[in-house]
Amino acid sequence: MKKYILALCTAVFYLPAYSQSNSAEKVYTIEAGKIKAHVQPTMYGIFFEDINMGADGGVYAELVKNRSFEFKEPLMGWNELKEGGANGSILILNRGAVNPDNPKFIHVTSKSVKGYGLSNEGFHGMGIKKDDQYNFSVLAKQAMGSNVSLQIELINSKGEVIGSTSVTPSSKEWKKYAASFTAKETEPKATLKVLLKGAGSIDLDMVSLFPQDTWKQRPGGLRADLVQKLADMKPGFLRFPGGCIVEGRELDTRYQWKKTIGDVANRRMIINRWNTEFAHRPAPDYYQSFGLGFLEYFEIAEDIGASPLPIINCGMACQFNTCELVPVNQLGPYVQDALDLIEFANGSILTKWGKKRAGLGHPAPFNLKMLGVGNEQWGEQYIERYKIFEKAIHAKYPQIKLVSSLGPFPGGDIFNFANETFRKLKASILDEHYYASPKWFLQNVKRYDNYDRNGPKIFAGEYAAQSVSTGSPENKNNWECAMAEAAFMTGLERNADVVSMASYAPLFANVEGWQWTPDLIWFDNLRSYGTPNYYVQQLYSLNKGTDVVPLTLNNETVTGQDGCFGTAALDMHTHELIIKMVNTGKEEQSADFVVNGIKMGSTGTMTLLQSDDLTSVNSLDKPLTVSPLKSEILFNDNHVKLRLKPYSFSVIRVKMAD
Ligand code: AHR
Repeated sequence: MKKYILALCTAVFYLPAYSQSNSAEKVYTIEAGKIKAHVQPTMYGIFFEDINMGADGGVYAELVKNRSFEFKEPLMGWNELKEGGANGSILILNRGAVNPDNPKFIHVTSKSVKGYGLSNEGFHGMGIKKDDQYNFSVLAKQAMGSNVSLQIELINSKGEVIGSTSVTPSSKEWKKYAASFTAKETEPKATLKVLLKGAGSIDLDMVSLFPQDTWKQRPGGLRADLVQKLADMKPGFLRFPGGCIVEGRELDTRYQWKKTIGDVANRRMIINRWNTEFAHRPAPDYYQSFGLGFLEYFEIAEDIGASPLPIINCGMACQFNTCELVPVNQLGPYVQDALDLIEFANGSILTKWGKKRAGLGHPAPFNLKMLGVGNEQWGEQYIERYKIFEKAIHAKYPQIKLVSSLGPFPGGDIFNFANETFRKLKASILDEHYYASPKWFLQNVKRYDNYDRNGPKIFAGEYAAQSVSTGSPENKNNWECAMAEAAFMTGLERNADVVSMASYAPLFANVEGWQWTPDLIWFDNLRSYGTPNYYVQQLYSLNKGTDVVPLTLNNETVTGQDGCFGTAALDMHTHELIIKMVNTGKEEQSADFVVNGIKMGSTGTMTLLQSDDLTSVNSLDKPLTVSPLKSEILFNDNHVKLRLKPYSFSVIRVKMAD
């Protein structure tokens, strides 16, 4: 939160409350006494998937790539070092029969007293900060008759040592060794050397380097700057772990939450499905270490005040890929995983999985209320499997709300079949996805106006305006897309009695390791920035209010007249009226807002997100090109005249007088 306030404060300047505009003034009326809908606390949330190196190589702060030699190419990310003519050899050994979760390790033999060893390239290098502490650790086992120690060095791009330490493994059995050091320099692309001191042989596994300065200083934790960006959104929910990653390309590579908890050395690494998904963006070094696993997901949700929303595999691999299915009579273990997950999240410490949670350091329950059955599934096969999950889950946990998928598209046969079927089944929450053009977003602002008010709630679970086309690597997070999303979201909010949750997707992207664009937050090894789309999401979330009230122009909802879109809500907690207006036109608009039904105070604020250039983007070097600017406005006898700038999203807040 601190960083958001700073961004706003540095950008605050005060505009005159009344100003002139060329366009004819329009009078917008707000009936503040007539509550139309209650806004759910969950309304604006986060969709998290390990795509674009969002977890490994991203928010999971591990700096060593392929730390346990489990990639298909076991030496990917590693190089053999023979400094000063040193000599030695390496072997990859596989103890799969006795340790199936972490089968491979490296056996290193040095024939020289120094200079032989390994280096690791990190994820596009390692981001190192001057004066920060770095924690090295390794699992090691000395060979009989050996007594080598390990010299650890961080190397900058000039080849200089910018931090070092050493460890002396003493045991002939596997044992963890750790040492810390302080970096002397900032370096975005450091590498790590592990050099043997003394001739001899040693086995190494889980070679790891973390910054001390992680989110909440948790050892082996998450990148603080990235989690802070999530916290700054004050999200209502956190959906995890995806996304197609839940499904896997095939069932073998589906997400299995039980394999992502406990000692990280025993979380079985698997390929990331985005490794091979796009031929134009191959990512051969993209794997899932599950260092960010289900306990960590629940913890982030708890840390940032978001309601957890895990999605579980329902016996179906990705239908865009293999579409492997588990026969319905063999779904037992999948259903059991779902039931156990609920017990893991909510069960008392006397239950099997509640006890497991407590053993992992979190005795308090996580208060799980929702669970997604399947990600982006469709067809009869999905319904068949969903019903089995639904029956078993509700027999044991009737209070858990299930999220049902309406498939990948916002209309068409697949959508219609799922929509009709789930409505007949009286499902609780329907998950709709739309990756479409900015135009689609503007044209669909009334999408929910005629939805059944007594039917299931809608979760706009994945959406993003695509500047070129869905899946195009040319898509940009530009202002045109963000503004279209802002306009569309007025429709979500106006229909808050039907729409209970919404999240942009995907969330994170590594500037050097992405597969899918656009994305909400981009980062490199040291820096990160929020896109214009991020600021739209953030402004909605920070200004969601509690109760929607009518905002009209000539007695009609504001859904695109002269390019303007609007919504209004009261915040009963802060006693404020919140007006959101999006002017998608290239002309400035004069607007007079008249509030009826409640006496308003005289001062308020207007937060403006705007650019004259629809192609504007933010970047690592210019992160705030399109970012919120806050100014003061004056209300006079329950109304305020404002200029709605061209291509702008404005959020107005004013206190109620009584
Ligand atoms: O957000 C990227 C992908 O889009 C998600 O994994 C999937 O659910 C959707 O098709």
